[in-house]
Amino acid sequence: MPNVLVVGAQWGDEGKGRVVDHLAADAVYAVRFGGGANAGHTLVVNGQKVVLHLIPAGALRPGCRGLIGNGCVMSPASLRAELARLAAAGHPLDPARLGLSPRLHVVTPYHLALDRAEGAAVGTTGRGIGPCYADKVARRGLRLEVLLRGEAAPILAAQRHLVAALHPGLELPAVEAVEAELRADAEALAPFVTDVDLELEAAVRCDAPILFEGAQGALLDIDHGTYPFVTSSTTTAGGVASGVGLWIDLHRRVGVTKAYSTRVGHGPYPTEIEGPIGDQIRTKGAEFGSTTGRPRRCGWIDLPALRQAARLNGLTELAVTKIDVLADIPVLRVAVEHGPDGPVYVDLPGFGDVSAARAWEELPPAAQRYLQLIAEQVGVPVRIVSVGAERAALMTLPEGTP
Ligand code: GDP
Ligand code: IMO
Ligand code: MG
Repeated sequence: MPNVLVVGAQWGDEGKGRVVDHLAADAVYAVRFGGGANAGHTLVVNGQKVVLHLIPAGALRPGCRGLIGNGCVMSPASLRAELARLAAAGHPLDPARLGLSPRLHVVTPYHLALDRAEGAAVGTTGRGIGPCYADKVARRGLRLEVLLRGEAAPILAAQRHLVAALHPGLELPAVEAVEAELRADAEALAPFVTDVDLELEAAVRCDAPILFEGAQGALLDIDHGTYPFVTSSTTTAGGVASGVGLWIDLHRRVGVTKAYSTRVGHGPYPTEIEGPIGDQIRTKGAEFGSTTGRPRRCGWIDLPALRQAARLNGLTELAVTKIDVLADIPVLRVAVEHGPDGPVYVDLPGFGDVSAARAWEELPPAAQRYLQLIAEQVGVPVRIVSVGAERAALMTLPEGTP
């Protein structure tokens, strides 16, 4: 298997987790290169739902080692809780199954406080992600290795000072208490620390297949998304090399998109549907955030936005998820351009239940036409189609189909 990149091609929650889970069956490493526990990647295995936040979804495949690169940010307490939840669900991950970069930046209680005080304008996940990346770039961030060396106190004091100055009314915990708590959690995680870059370099040398798991989506990218309504990291292919510390050829670059679109949080959303069809999609698609439980805004698929995602990531293929959710909507609207008065739509006839389809020929002609239009307009072939949340509810399309 070649090296594979899986990225979100919309505003996140496209179904990356389930696509990664499928592709990781052939991978030896599954690697996160950016973001933090703002992500929520859902897998459904034998009817059991598992949500991953920072741990790569591919790490649940027994033959696949998970790595979390330096481009990510991590709250030690939240990662420990995630490990405990996974263990309770029958997926214990020891240091042989998961590795952490020592250069990860640590999300501190001061970051959480700042995000909670200021994040509402964007509608953040409240996980301290933006403030943590801001401190990293401002060179007052706390790396995991520094925390483990016992040198965190002056950094934490500077962070506390800043948050207190910005929000004098906020109650902030004392530096000593924060340091002790962070350090206890970090020490529990110390056996997982590994040189992610060197491990991956060795993997490349022996042709071990590597899967990179993007978080969020192209339209949430700090540089290329709908700024300032974005997350604070590079969510696109450009983030891989700097987020793991090694240039790696990515042979397959898979952009995951829903058959419609969703967005959580504020910001522009030209194809948003307000009214009964939006509600129908939200209910049928269970469009409520995996991390925060917030209702997701729902809309038609936006092909100009997907073209941008294809350009940003050099996509070689698309994975289209949740086409089953569109069943029984009589007319499906597809945005093919953005004009001066808003999106320009092509209307296609709808289709019925597709959840039992396991091959291209088993999809109704109207669903085939829908997928064909996406592939033609984006200029990238559709190679994976998912029709349900369960592992088996997915088909791989052969060459020659759209
Ligand atoms: P991610 O953040 O990109 O991994 O996506 P999320 O896990 O946040 O959201 C996707 C949701 O859709 C999850 O609840 C999945 O179980 C579910 N899902 C994924 N693919 C399909 C599909 O093809 N059909 C249906 N009905 N649900 C799906
Ligand atoms: P996955 O990986 C959907 C959104 C938030 C908010 C903005 C900034 O599951 O697709 P942040 O907490 O990152 O500072 O919030 O980004 N956001 C996501 N939306 N899926 C995600 O991750 C998201 N991660 C962040 O809702 O609008
Ligand atoms: Mg998600």
